Amino acid sequence: MKGLQIVSTGRCLADKIVTNEDMTHIIETTDEWIVSRTGIHERRYLAEGQCNADLAAEAARRAIAKAGISPSELCACVVATVSPDLLAPTMGCLVQKRLGLPEDIPCFDLNVGCSGFVYGLKVIRGLLAQDERPYALFVGSDALSTITDFQDRPTCILFADGAGAVIAKLDDKYFDALLCARCDGDAILIDGPKHPHPVIHMDGRTVFRFASEVLPQTIHQLVDRAGMVVEDIDWFVPHQANGRIIDHAAKRLGTSMDKWYVNIDHYGNTSAASIPIALDEMDEKGLLKRGQKVAMVGFGAGLTWAGALVEW
Ligand code: ACO
Repeated sequence: MKGLQIVSTGRCLADKIVTNEDMTHIIETTDEWIVSRTGIHERRYLAEGQCNADLAAEAARRAIAKAGISPSELCACVVATVSPDLLAPTMGCLVQKRLGLPEDIPCFDLNVGCSGFVYGLKVIRGLLAQDERPYALFVGSDALSTITDFQDRPTCILFADGAGAVIAKLDDKYFDALLCARCDGDAILIDGPKHPHPVIHMDGRTVFRFASEVLPQTIHQLVDRAGMVVEDIDWFVPHQANGRIIDHAAKRLGTSMDKWYVNIDHYGNTSAASIPIALDEMDEKGLLKRGQKVAMVGFGAGLTWAGALVEW
């Protein structure tokens, strides 16, 4: 099967900036504790009247505009999210409506927690391979502040709201993706819709250990499968879960931090949105050059984890 090229990117962060100082008015905590444990200085929450679909649709609109394509050239609209505004209409359908996308395309959600963006790259590649239309719209969008338990001190300081989108097409460049799962509701559990106020429950230490294991391991597997070595990778774009997890992985792989893109300091953990938001920032800064090898790794609820290696 052909590879996948990311043609354009877009992002939209929630409007309300919540600093660590603001968090001290919600829970008993300090800026020093949060920064030293997570690397987070501030995060974004939905403003009054904003919803997850607003972020997803705006990120998608920006990616479509940047690609300079027409909605009639899209073969799919997929949204990776673990915090949809509604179970139905899905976020995929809400984005379709807001952007006036065609009716003869699949519009749906992918619920794989923080691994959703990397999982979805493989899914949209399959959809593109079965359609004449050249492009797919894929959005990672989460509003975790809506399912955060603000009594849970170690967990609530992490999460945030944002969306990142890509327009992708098939091409002959290298693409590989590795999707994995290990069911564990003790590590992370998100209540179902029957719960009056669904929230995320997380055993932070277990998740920390899990992430510190699978992040470097997935990169080793991706480079082995490509017949490369870790030094061949130009950019590592990990899920922005916690700065310490990323530092740990960079050290275990013997790589310089200069090759790791990190923006958790100002956005917090935006779950399925964190990797496409990072890609959009990197593109805006001119960091991504044609032909570079970019390794992305997502990990989170499920438990799930996934890695993708693409040639930009
Ligand atoms: N402010 C100040 N002190 C706090 C806070 C807080 N917000 N939260 C906890 N503490 C205290 C605790 O009471 C405890 O004090 P004690 O030692 O006196 O008992 C101490 O700090 C340590 O608490 P822990 O809960 O053990 O904190 P830990 O060092 O494990 O850090 C953290 C917590 C940051 C959540 C860490 O475990 C982590 O990053 N885990 C990974 C989480 C993650 O990346 N999840 C991503 C996937 S989520 C998804 O997919 C939806």
